[in-house]
Amino acid sequence: MSIAKESRSTSGIFSGAGVMAKRFLMLTSFALLLGGTAAVSYADEKTDALVKERQDLMKKMGGTFKVLVPIVKGENTNLSDAVPAATTVHEASKGIVAAFPEGSGRDEVPESRAKREIWLQWAEFEAAAEKLVEESGKLVDAAESGDVEAFRAQFKVYAAACGGCHEGPSKSGGKFRFERE
Ligand code: HEC
Repeated sequence: MSIAKESRSTSGIFSGAGVMAKRFLMLTSFALLLGGTAAVSYADEKTDALVKERQDLMKKMGGTFKVLVPIVKGENTNLSDAVPAATTVHEASKGIVAAFPEGSGRDEVPESRAKREIWLQWAEFEAAAEKLVEESGKLVDAAESGDVEAFRAQFKVYAAACGGCHEGPSKSGGKFRFERE
């Protein structure tokens, strides 16, 4: 067996090289193919993770209502408790625009509630996000001012800014968000 193998490889040195070259080409194209599919699923995974991350970002903002609403209602009279909560929203709101790259809506990620209107009306979407950055910034200022009436008034304006994209309650839909089924 080994003799036959040796004689074959020495006799056909050119054809052997040809086979090698062919094999090499096959291997590289196979590797490219693998690389290509790997890149696609990596992109999918990245988009899935991004959607999860931005939903968490939204939830983080929503979570601060637990602290802010009792202060608005006067159930908690310690206005300074509102400072870290308002700061959390303000910081999170700055990340909204970057959290919505094109191709990350429900059409691509079924778990997402993002409507394609976001990208069709991007200027409006961006303006709604910027409005939230601005109004949550003013909410931080109002919380720091120690003036609870000013804080109450700004809270209303701030909460309405969430409605720039959706109706507010987490189940609700809106212009840019599907209702939760
Ligand atoms: C610039 C538009 C915009 C603004 C402003 C905005 N949201 Fe959202 N929000 C969205 C979109 C779009 C989704 C759906 C994201 C997805 O599922 O991919 C969402 C989702 C949510 C969710 C659901 C998360 C989940 O688990 O599905 C909550 C809660 C939420 N937002 C709270 C808020 C609160 C509170 C505010 C105001 C402080 C706010 N949002 C302001 C666009 C916005």
